[in-house]
Amino acid sequence: MNRRHFLKTGAAATAVLAGMPMLTTGCRTSLRTRLMDGQPSTETKIPEMTADGYRILHYASLAPSGHNSQPWFVRIKDPDHWIIGLDTDRRLPVVDGNNTEALLSIGAFLENLVQAAAAHGYRVHTTIIAKDRFDPDFNPDLVSIRLEKTQPENMDLHRLTSRRTVKSHLSDRPLTPGDVSALSRLADGHLFYFPKNTTHADHMAEQAVANYIIQMKNRAAVQEMAKWTRLKDSTIKEHRDGLTPAGMEIQGLASWYVKYLMDPEDVTGQTFIDKGIEKTQHQAKEGAGWLVITGDGNSVADLIASGRRFQRMALEAKNRMIAIHPMSQTLEETSGRKSITENHSPGTIPHFMLRVGYLDKYPEPVSVRRPVEWFVRA
Ligand SMILES: Cc1cc2nc3c(=O)[nH]c(=O)nc-3n(C[C@H](O)[C@H](O)[C@H](O)COP(=O)(O)O)c2cc1C
Repeated sequence: MNRRHFLKTGAAATAVLAGMPMLTTGCRTSLRTRLMDGQPSTETKIPEMTADGYRILHYASLAPSGHNSQPWFVRIKDPDHWIIGLDTDRRLPVVDGNNTEALLSIGAFLENLVQAAAAHGYRVHTTIIAKDRFDPDFNPDLVSIRLEKTQPENMDLHRLTSRRTVKSHLSDRPLTPGDVSALSRLADGHLFYFPKNTTHADHMAEQAVANYIIQMKNRAAVQEMAKWTRLKDSTIKEHRDGLTPAGMEIQGLASWYVKYLMDPEDVTGQTFIDKGIEKTQHQAKEGAGWLVITGDGNSVADLIASGRRFQRMALEAKNRMIAIHPMSQTLEETSGRKSITENHSPGTIPHFMLRVGYLDKYPEPVSVRRPVEWFVRA
């Protein structure tokens, strides 16, 4: 048995994967900045695009997405006319077979785009051009965007750069009615809060764990997760997407272990799967309960609208020191969806299930993004 194999299989491995306390790194540059080669350039590298356009798309790209797959592309028709589309190579066909999460993510991208455009002095006119996502001739062009020059609005773009998904250290202190109504307003009233220890919240926590276990028994779902997992810094820099150790909140010695001792195929192994289940069981118990964001329907327009509401709400949650953790496995699995719709008023269409809770300290973003020129098509 060589040294590497010994370390991989020994008790030490189990201990570190369980998540030991953070080791101080002494590194001042943020992890995201280091892995993304610094700040966005104001110099556009795309001939058809202005510096403002380039910066607006950089801010748009900071939107969240399932598995951090960043399923968007942008086609520049002319400097103020763009098409936003679904990059079909970035779909998650196993857990998101009908593109629900991809379209929700593109909605979040559009919300960031509109806010960044307002800050740069552009009003955005959007037209949904997609037909139906179940159409066999599904056209990946989704939204037509026209930018109209106007006065810059006083928008706080720091909210876009500092928001992140947060999965640890959520307080169980209930959300205040003031915070819930502020978030609900931004979600156009499509948001519902279920405080911890209520029947609904307990049910959502149980379902999150049960459906995570169902997925981890599905080889195809595990392999899809592995395909989007980036363990080493060199792989992260190469792809600038996917699930990284920092994004999965694997910290300290455990992070060192997964970066240097694990191979990509180990992500599909039983040890990693079991630790993921343990972590999910722990997470489902932590926090102040659950938010559900509902939609008006399941058309392309409905899903993009829900993604935009989610992102408006998530940006404000950050301001209020509220962690947002989407736990989508329940809505991805048929049995989970059925159980959630049966437990809510008839006609409820849940688009997001989010674990929430106040934070003492809002951690810095760590998930990486592709540079604008990687997702812009001429
Ligand atoms: C539609 C959607 C579904 C998501 N589902 C999950 C999920 O089931 N579990 C999870 O841990 N994170 C989930 N996320 C969060 C993403 O993993 C996260 O946004 C991505 O890794 C980028 O990280 P960031 O939000 O910190 O920028 C989801 C995000 C979106 C937009």
